[in-house]
Amino acid sequence: MMDRYTEIIQNAYAKINLTLDILGVKADGYHELQSVMQTISLHDIITIKPGNQGIYIVCSDPAIPVDSRNLAYRAAEHFCFAAGIPPEFEIILEKYIPNQAGLGGGSSDAAAVLIMLNKMYDEPLAQNVLNSVSARIGSDVPFFIRGGTASIGGRGECIEALPDIPRYHLVIVKPRFGISTAWAYKRLDEMRGIGIAEMRAVTHTDRLAECIKTGDWDQLPCLIANDLEQPSIDRHPEIDGIKNRMLQLGAKGALMCGSGSAVFGIFGSNEEAVSASFELSVYGDVYVTQTIRPNDEADS
Ligand code: C5P
Repeated sequence: MMDRYTEIIQNAYAKINLTLDILGVKADGYHELQSVMQTISLHDIITIKPGNQGIYIVCSDPAIPVDSRNLAYRAAEHFCFAAGIPPEFEIILEKYIPNQAGLGGGSSDAAAVLIMLNKMYDEPLAQNVLNSVSARIGSDVPFFIRGGTASIGGRGECIEALPDIPRYHLVIVKPRFGISTAWAYKRLDEMRGIGIAEMRAVTHTDRLAECIKTGDWDQLPCLIANDLEQPSIDRHPEIDGIKNRMLQLGAKGALMCGSGSAVFGIFGSNEEAVSASFELSVYGDVYVTQTIRPNDEADS
């Protein structure tokens, strides 16, 4: 174990789903999905310090629970159980990734906690164990163990790393309302129940993964798609308004992030992203960010 009085600090990066195909409902109520997920430079900062007996979470956002409803707490609990280590630490979450946005903030924090505790205790969990523990915490957590660009299957636990993509400049708008992931999936089921299901031989994820493998970078923004978007737009038409405004401002593509409510636009340069961000700030909180690669941490 590291020196008892050292602390460990790590960034926990947000994600966007460049595609999200929801293929059907599994027996356990979860959905079978395919997605190309991508980490971005927007991040929380996690500090873990050795402490008294128990798991203590301190969070910069008072709206976020600090008990077992917090995915970082659950990650610490699962780590201790799997590694046979008594819980004796404090976890400080400095939040910058907005909540209920579809950016995976809670899941990324959880993955970071697993990785950090594994480092802190001299790697008691092998990589494959870390992956399976992460899947028990939440559907998006396994992706964040590696991050970068990946094709996802199952309910989120099947990960295939894709080649790194070049840096894309993004503007993310988080409207004033949030969307619960469970609500978004339920609404999609209701819509499909009344005949809006669309079965595809080739999914958006298949097409985008192929584009990434061939390196057709101009085409990438034209292939983004999200099945959870329409149900959310029906309830919150403002999401469509934000997408259209981004396209008017020169975005090469615009899409709702994961289960929403945030929307991302892909811009040609950092300058274009910054100038669009001023116009977009009327819709909510605005973030100028970019895609990152798994080992970009140092310069982001
Ligand atoms: O796994 P996680 O707790 O992050 O999922 C939150 C909610 O999203 C689930 O309760 C479920 O309603 C929905 N979900 C789903 N299928 C997935 C992932 C999430 O139905 N593959």
